[in-house]
Amino acid sequence: MFSSSPPATPRFRPLDAAEEPLILPQYQEVERSGRSKRPTWISRGQMVQLGVLVLLSLGVWGILVGFASSPVEVQDRPVKPQVAAVAAVDIDSITELNATILDGDGAGARQWTVAIPAGIKAPLRPSVYGGICRSAHGVSTMARFPGIGHVNGAGHHSYYWIDDLFVDPADSGESVEVEQGKDLCDTSLTYLLESTNAGFGVALMGLWSAYGLAKQEGRAFFIDDRDWAWGSYSTYFTPPPDPICAPPPPHWLLPCPHTAKHLVVASSTHAFVFGHEFVGQFEDPRKMEVMRQVKIFDIVRQGYEALFRLGLTDDALSAVEDRKHATPGPAVAVHIRRGDGRPLDWGFKKLGYVPLEKYAEVARNLLQIEDIDKNGTIVCASDDPAICSSPDFAGFEPAQYVPPHQPKPRTDTPNAPGFVAEDFWKTNMDQRVEMGKSYVKDLKIMGELAARPGGGAICDISSVTCRLIAVIMGWQKGIMDEGWVNVDGDFDWNGVDW
Ligand SMILES: *[C@@H]1O[C@H](CO)[C@@H](O)[C@H](O)[C@H]1NC(C)=O
Ligand SMILES: *[C@@H]1O[C@H](CO)[C@@H](O)[C@H](O)[C@H]1NC(C)=O
Repeated sequence: MFSSSPPATPRFRPLDAAEEPLILPQYQEVERSGRSKRPTWISRGQMVQLGVLVLLSLGVWGILVGFASSPVEVQDRPVKPQVAAVAAVDIDSITELNATILDGDGAGARQWTVAIPAGIKAPLRPSVYGGICRSAHGVSTMARFPGIGHVNGAGHHSYYWIDDLFVDPADSGESVEVEQGKDLCDTSLTYLLESTNAGFGVALMGLWSAYGLAKQEGRAFFIDDRDWAWGSYSTYFTPPPDPICAPPPPHWLLPCPHTAKHLVVASSTHAFVFGHEFVGQFEDPRKMEVMRQVKIFDIVRQGYEALFRLGLTDDALSAVEDRKHATPGPAVAVHIRRGDGRPLDWGFKKLGYVPLEKYAEVARNLLQIEDIDKNGTIVCASDDPAICSSPDFAGFEPAQYVPPHQPKPRTDTPNAPGFVAEDFWKTNMDQRVEMGKSYVKDLKIMGELAARPGGGAICDISSVTCRLIAVIMGWQKGIMDEGWVNVDGDFDWNGVDW
């Protein structure tokens, strides 16, 4: 488990920031007075009224102090908790768990909670968290309107709607064991790197978005890589620094509702965390098209800035830097997704892929627009590295000089190899680590070359890697200056798929 507190970084780093080393600012604990600690959430309407308070707290990066009423009376935590012994519960014995309604005193609304056995020593399996979220909305509605029977997804609340009938286990007053010398975090977000979705890019998009969200909400951030099919997070990345506060016990981690003090997020819960309500909260309705996405882009970008530090060997890191320096002029990065990737555009859908000539044509146009055709380089990467040496791409250079499996040149075919999630499960850990390292190196080289002045990127939006490259380029370079070009239909940049 790795962790980091949300640092106070500026919204956007300068254009070439992708190539700068990052110094993570230190977590600042916000001292609060008063009897109870009640971090809570405020709605857009309340935001306006509270503008003055927000201004007062500018510059302080921390947890929002409660304005609205908290669902449950919060008890002060004892300084020296007396932790009751609880029998250990095997996490694999819990395959399904739903939110539950608490016994009330008869008529009227009742409270509800998500009761996870206190004996678990680690987070539950990601699929269990997905199930909790699927049950939460219905149980919340049944608690409020007893007698209407079972409800299925009726009505939606805003992202930060406070359900006053929800009882957060973290507010139970229960004493829990925490790491020595640290206070329990008031609020947190733990991202579970999950295995059921094999894509490395999917993991990065979820992880970076979760980080940005944690920062937005003042939550301490933790990464749990126990379940990750790609192995350990530190195989690829430098773990972020530890926050000064201690993570909560695993049975306090809840995937839903979003106002839970200690959130857990995995790709199995992306639809609930980054779905309709998230988009409703963070899209800018006053803007048009891709401009609506600026806040969401910013959230992912914050995660990228804080977390994209390759933790590879010195040799591998120098190879990446050497590769970038070997391309001194402007570069256009072309990323081609093959394997089980599927285009979105109707015309390409029938074909099953975006033809190489489409990428090549757009890449050459982009070079011409930038008037760098005499001095620019087109750099190519794909989940099928052989595709970069196809005749359509004559003159293109591979992102990495030594691809992992010396590919033979090949022309375009519908069944070209590439990353296929199904086949991934047949690989062993050594192969995965090799693929994963090659992937993060490609991503860094492509993104950082494209982020340079005069640079650009061409890729298909259905590929998460394509959208990650835009994040590495930054909003100004990638979106405002249109340095990032999608070849697959008329679709705008988006963040997490859900
Ligand atoms: C959880 O809720 C779903 C949908 O209501 C139901 O099908 C399932 O049996 C419940 N599971 C448990 C363990 O209660
Ligand atoms: C190519 O670009 C580099 C770096 O911008 C510059 O120093 C060099 O003069 C350029 N060469 C040509 C032929 O334009």
